[in-house]
Amino acid sequence: MTLHHMLLLFPCLQKVLAFMCLCLWWSTCIRVEAANDSLKPGDTLNLDTGPLYSKKGDYCLGFGWVDVGDNQYLFVSNVNNNYVVWMSDRNQPVDKDSAVLSLNRSGVLKIESQRGKPIILYSPPQPINNTKATLLDTGNFVLQHLHSNGTNTLLWQSFDYPTHNLIPTMKLGVNHKTGHHWLLVSFFTKTLATPGAFSLEWEPVEQELIIKRRGKVCWESGKLRNNRFENIPEDAQAVLKYSIVSNEDEDTFSFTSTNENPNLYWILTEFGQISDDEGYVARADLCYGYNNTDGGCQRWQDIPKCRNPGDVFQKKTGSFNYQNVSIEENISYGYSDCEASCWSNCSCSAFRELYPNGTGCIFFHWISGENYTFDSTGENFYLLENMLTNHKGTKKWIWIGAVPATALLAIFLFTICLAFKKRKFVFQGKKRQRMVMKMLHLATCSRSSAMKDFEVDLKKGNGLKLFNYTSIMAATNEFSTENKLGQGGFGPVYKVT
Ligand SMILES: *[C@@H]1O[C@H](CO)[C@@H](O)[C@H](O)[C@H]1NC(C)=O
Ligand SMILES: *[C@@H]1O[C@H](CO)[C@@H](O)[C@H](O)[C@H]1NC(C)=O
Ligand SMILES: *[C@@H]1O[C@H](CO)[C@@H](O)[C@H](O)[C@H]1NC(C)=O
Ligand SMILES: *[C@@H]1O[C@H](CO)[C@@H](O)[C@H](O)[C@H]1NC(C)=O
Ligand SMILES: *[C@@H]1O[C@H](CO)[C@@H](O)[C@H](O)[C@H]1NC(C)=O
Ligand SMILES: *[C@@H]1O[C@H](CO)[C@@H](O)[C@H](O)[C@H]1NC(C)=O
Ligand SMILES: *[C@@H]1O[C@H](CO)[C@@H](O)[C@H](O)[C@H]1NC(C)=O
Ligand SMILES: *[C@@H]1O[C@H](CO)[C@@H](O)[C@H](O)[C@H]1NC(C)=O
Ligand SMILES: *[C@@H]1O[C@H](CO)[C@@H](O)[C@H](O)[C@H]1NC(C)=O
Ligand SMILES: *[C@@H]1O[C@H](CO)[C@@H](O)[C@H](O)[C@H]1NC(C)=O
Repeated sequence: MTLHHMLLLFPCLQKVLAFMCLCLWWSTCIRVEAANDSLKPGDTLNLDTGPLYSKKGDYCLGFGWVDVGDNQYLFVSNVNNNYVVWMSDRNQPVDKDSAVLSLNRSGVLKIESQRGKPIILYSPPQPINNTKATLLDTGNFVLQHLHSNGTNTLLWQSFDYPTHNLIPTMKLGVNHKTGHHWLLVSFFTKTLATPGAFSLEWEPVEQELIIKRRGKVCWESGKLRNNRFENIPEDAQAVLKYSIVSNEDEDTFSFTSTNENPNLYWILTEFGQISDDEGYVARADLCYGYNNTDGGCQRWQDIPKCRNPGDVFQKKTGSFNYQNVSIEENISYGYSDCEASCWSNCSCSAFRELYPNGTGCIFFHWISGENYTFDSTGENFYLLENMLTNHKGTKKWIWIGAVPATALLAIFLFTICLAFKKRKFVFQGKKRQRMVMKMLHLATCSRSSAMKDFEVDLKKGNGLKLFNYTSIMAATNEFSTENKLGQGGFGPVYKVT
């Protein structure tokens, strides 16, 4: 029986497993009082020395996996919610067992490992010996030159090299003095952190945020009025305070939170969405280039003759009985490239990724309902469906029922009832899913406050059972290797007996 089958048979097992991961991290990544937040000249950081922690303990800097991919990097992540704030060169993974970050006595900040060339983060024009590298409470990792008169100058900072997440006080835009651009670039695929198709940038002339796919603008935030962008949902902006700077030194955008939320972030996904920890901020994945300019989508091409407004690719899980497929083996194709190819080829009705790492594509041509079955144990694929006609369908149904006035009333009441029921269900489902995702998302440096979140969620009555650490130790045979089901970026997964 596979893990997947087990998860289906015992829905609660998911939560148990998630909870166990939490325990494991809790026990292996204990928050050290008086942990170091900085490196002096001559200091090194590796797996044995453990990570650096910012003073308040919200961020840590260490080596490890990022998300579920196998590649390893040096990264700064948020300790409470585990999102990555900075990563070393995404084109150059390191080997975390041999990797060493060092600040040497000439002021060079570098990463050396058995995999690839050394990564020089900063090298001063002349050797300097009075430097210090510190992980700040903002999540910014900075290298400073300390002067004898007590002042210091900034030599390098991780905030100058954003990856795919934006956090408070981190800038997007351009530094006119150095010509340096600050922008987010998505992951290539879910498991490949290499730079992907989408970027989030600040457009200084129009003063708006834009998402580009492979260099082409596909989404715009619209103008900022009263601290609100017109194409970003109100919910997603409620606790944000934007800061726009436009002068001869720089043209930049950044945000802070109005409620001191320490876990505020925007992630730019490999699908072209911006999400925060509650939902979507922007959805460039719904921009197909024709004039469906809802939500900030831009127009760059005509709609293909065979496509209708409202057609969108929807993620499905199921099995196929198909004969008519074509394959794109080019590994520089990611999700959005497959989608664009399928969209513009009239015979293509669905696609999925070819390789396990998410690259390449399989296109399904001329499929109809007979050629697949939806089934949650199957494989994921993206099927073209029309959201507008589905929607119209229900409207028509109500209209037919409207002929006799009494029937209309009955149907009306029934529909309202159903809608209420459904909404409640969807809400609970989403909330649960989010909670489980949150726990499964744990990377290298979690600490016990994630545990508190979990307890809070429990108290809110989300139908979870609390298992204490000892009962899990017993159930998993003290985390024995026989009971180990697998290992992801978040740590080992065990089977309970
Ligand atoms: C902090 O760094 C100092 C010197 O660099 C070292 O002696 C000490 O053990 C470190 N403390 C921790 C908790 O890692
Ligand atoms: C610091 O590292 C640089 C680059 O690897 C090297 O050239 C330099 O000699 C090192 N300085 C010391 C004092 O080790
Ligand atoms: C740093 O370098 C200066 C000269 O550049 C030297 O006088 C001083 O002793 C050095 N300090 C240390 C701690 O090595
Ligand atoms: C402190 O020293 C540095 C380097 O010598 C110098 O650039 C800076 O202006 C000095 N600051 C003050 C306040 O004297
Ligand atoms: C899309 O835009 C073109 C020109 O801008 C217009 O002629 C056409 O009617 C529009 N189509 C729809 C479906 O709105
Ligand atoms: C879809 O299924 C039908 C019925 O099984 C079959 O005749 C047809 O060839 C299938 N189409 C493709 C493209 O596989
Ligand atoms: C397979 O797809 C091609 C177009 O790519 C189409 O001409 C052909 O009829 C399809 N075959 C079947 C069995 O559906
Ligand atoms: C793969 O796709 C990229 C981008 O579309 C293209 O530049 C490259 O030439 C392709 N490689 C091959 C081997 O077709
Ligand atoms: C659509 O895909 C099929 C199968 O790969 C290919 O034969 C056909 O040429 C494509 N059509 C267009 C317009 O690209
Ligand atoms: C993704 O997988 C394919 C097929 O296994 C492989 O050729 C390719 O190198 C992989 N890409 C990366 C970046 O690892």
